[in-house]
Amino acid sequence: MSRYVLPLSVLGTVVGGAVLLRDYVAGGACPSKATIPGKTVIVTGANTGIGKQTAMELARRGGNVILACRDMEKCEAAAKDIRGETLNHRVRARHLDLASLKSIREFAAKITEEEEQVHVLVNNAAVMRCPHWTTEDGFEMQFGVNYLGHFLLTNLLLDRLKASAPSRIINLSSLAHIAGHVDFDDLNWEKRKYDTRGAYCQSKLAIILFTKELSRRLQGTGVTVNAVHPGVARTELGRHTGMHSSAFSSFTLGPAVVSTSSHCRLSGSPSALLLRKIPR
Ligand SMILES: NC(=O)c1ccc[n+]([C@@H]2O[C@H](COP(=O)([O-])OP(=O)(O)OC[C@H]3O[C@@H](n4cnc5c(N)ncnc54)[C@H](OP(=O)(O)O)[C@@H]3O)[C@@H](O)[C@H]2O)c1
Repeated sequence: MSRYVLPLSVLGTVVGGAVLLRDYVAGGACPSKATIPGKTVIVTGANTGIGKQTAMELARRGGNVILACRDMEKCEAAAKDIRGETLNHRVRARHLDLASLKSIREFAAKITEEEEQVHVLVNNAAVMRCPHWTTEDGFEMQFGVNYLGHFLLTNLLLDRLKASAPSRIINLSSLAHIAGHVDFDDLNWEKRKYDTRGAYCQSKLAIILFTKELSRRLQGTGVTVNAVHPGVARTELGRHTGMHSSAFSSFTLGPAVVSTSSHCRLSGSPSALLLRKIPR
């Protein structure tokens, strides 16, 4: 019997450690019961992952939710899922490809035409560690989608957000920004060897710098701007790396999930941030 004690205690420690790690990396839980009837929310990249769960939770809480996605088939399917799950029929799918300035302008024009008010913009979409691709306009893909695309979108919708104040902008960043360095002489990685990780970190640092400066400029307008690290969740983000699909990740990372109406756990907190002081 005694020869089993050591291996069993090691196993127990490893399993317990993994459970604690999973809880830690998953980020905070949101205890808010706030509802948002009549509030119009846009979530980019809402067909899957954290964006879809954010849209789901906000629809459950009564918002008019617009899913902004590049693939309309996936977008319509996600909107249908969310309507079915939440019984909120005010969930719509709209086309937005953040790798195309033309598409961003078309999306913003449509929103401006269709929506009298926009209360919340969740800049969630991202691509991580893809090959050295460029956007339609020639920008390095991760910088182009994760940062520049959201920069343009936010600025195009700013008048609507200001007119709908109190309103808010939530930018999904990542702890990865800590390792980021913005190379202003070579934003597109044309002079250096392309580093997929460095490019992701650069894009996530850029969105934090943007958040800080924009929030400073918007002081007094009733529009708040926040950046959030959502915790680590098993989503499609690692599609170019295999990360998040390894056996270790499957065990330690939870899927992006939300909630009951009284307790949402979004593997982090775009909706927690949003619901903490929900504009009324
Ligand atoms: N998951 C994590 O552990 C984690 C950790 C830290 C930060 N984050 C951040 O959380 C956010 C959500 O990530 P996630 O994990 O939910 O990733 P995900 O499952 O890969 O979802 C990313 C979303 O972005 C969309 N997207 C990609 N390129 C786009 C483009 N050109 N135009 C419009 N939409 C585009 C994707 O659409 P398609 O399905 O059509 O590709 C998808 O809907 C990201 O900003 C990410 O950096 C995530």
